[in-house]
Amino acid sequence: MSRNPDLERQAREILIRNDRGGYTVPTHGLYPFQWNWDSAFVALGFATFDRDRAWREIETLVSAQWADGMIPHIIFHQQDEGYFPGPEVWATGRTPPTSGITQPPVLATILRQLWEAEGADPACPRMRALYRACLASHRWFHTFRDPLGNGLVMVTHNWETGRDNSSEWDDALARVDTAAVGPYQRRDTGHVDAAMRPRQEEYDRYVAILQFGRECGWDHAAIADRGPFRMIDVGMSMMLLRANRDLLALAEAQGDYEAAGELRARIALSERGMDWLWNEEAGAYCSRDVITGESSGLVTNASFLAFYAGVGSEAQRARLIAALERIAGSARYLLPSLEAGSRAYDHRRYWRGPVWLVVSYMVAEGLAQQGHADWAERIREDSARLIETAGFYESFSPETGEGSGGPDFSWTAAMWLAWCGR
Ligand code: GLC
Repeated sequence: MSRNPDLERQAREILIRNDRGGYTVPTHGLYPFQWNWDSAFVALGFATFDRDRAWREIETLVSAQWADGMIPHIIFHQQDEGYFPGPEVWATGRTPPTSGITQPPVLATILRQLWEAEGADPACPRMRALYRACLASHRWFHTFRDPLGNGLVMVTHNWETGRDNSSEWDDALARVDTAAVGPYQRRDTGHVDAAMRPRQEEYDRYVAILQFGRECGWDHAAIADRGPFRMIDVGMSMMLLRANRDLLALAEAQGDYEAAGELRARIALSERGMDWLWNEEAGAYCSRDVITGESSGLVTNASFLAFYAGVGSEAQRARLIAALERIAGSARYLLPSLEAGSRAYDHRRYWRGPVWLVVSYMVAEGLAQQGHADWAERIREDSARLIETAGFYESFSPETGEGSGGPDFSWTAAMWLAWCGR
């Protein structure tokens, strides 16, 4: 049952309109290709009215997986001049062309959901194929992105985190040398108000990091070793831990004991390792720089993914709930990407305040699963109200509820269908 049949219809129409044949663009114009974690969430939306299409969305995504196991963050299925940096800038030499970095590993968790909703048949061929792809992708993370050997996830570009412009990356980005970047033409500010997008000097740094990867020929070992930007991201660390738990369930169902043993060891490692991100002063898990060892000290929406990952002592969880209470005191709508009053907070600017429903969804799922149904419900209700007042935007102001970024956004529509509109 939908709480609003008209919005239900609009949400389906957005997914159908953004469908480019086997994959869905996040929004028309601003993001004209297939994005990795967007597709995973979009599959949840499709699953509410077209199961076959849901599977296809992620099958198309993994069809671009690299031989080393990485699932790229963008797949350029077709040409589009309206986006920078396009395939010729990434120059990864792949067919179809892709970027050279990844995005948050939410796929295994969503795969498990699709599979369970269809009766959890261990012999399901579509699940089995996607399971193998997820396993290869998780092994890629374990091999190339765990430099400290503590089960956490290092990113080598802030775009990998999916929280592209979060102030967690500011200090590390400030050290990136942009002298050799050269001229280029941004496209994002031609689609949406520049006040909602990253500033020019920030964009130069993003491009400089990309250029480093390209100069390494996208050799992921070399980039992980010497890249100019290397941070342990709290969001991806939590999501990979959660995804390993879900992949383990799929491994066990199929009797893949070797992989199951390996995944159990990874899960235990990450559970122990997560304290490396705990910042006692902030009372939260915070992203931390591998090069300097410094914690960002910032409480973001990703900090609350601890519940989704199932980590934290009783005392740590109590402090996280206290932080949530504090944030609820200043934000009209939960869950802002950054707490009001924090350094660089801006309720309209990309990942420095606005609410993103996919992160809210994972946080709410985690809270519900860990015995905080009241908080989960509050986040769900606020998310529904944001769509009801503003429409299916990319993100929303936690203060006014106004939409920001692109309109008619696929994963926002998917979140209505699969979660907050139900
Ligand atoms: C932005 C977001 C990223 C998302 C992409 C497409 O780059 O920061 O998380 O995947 O848009 O929606």
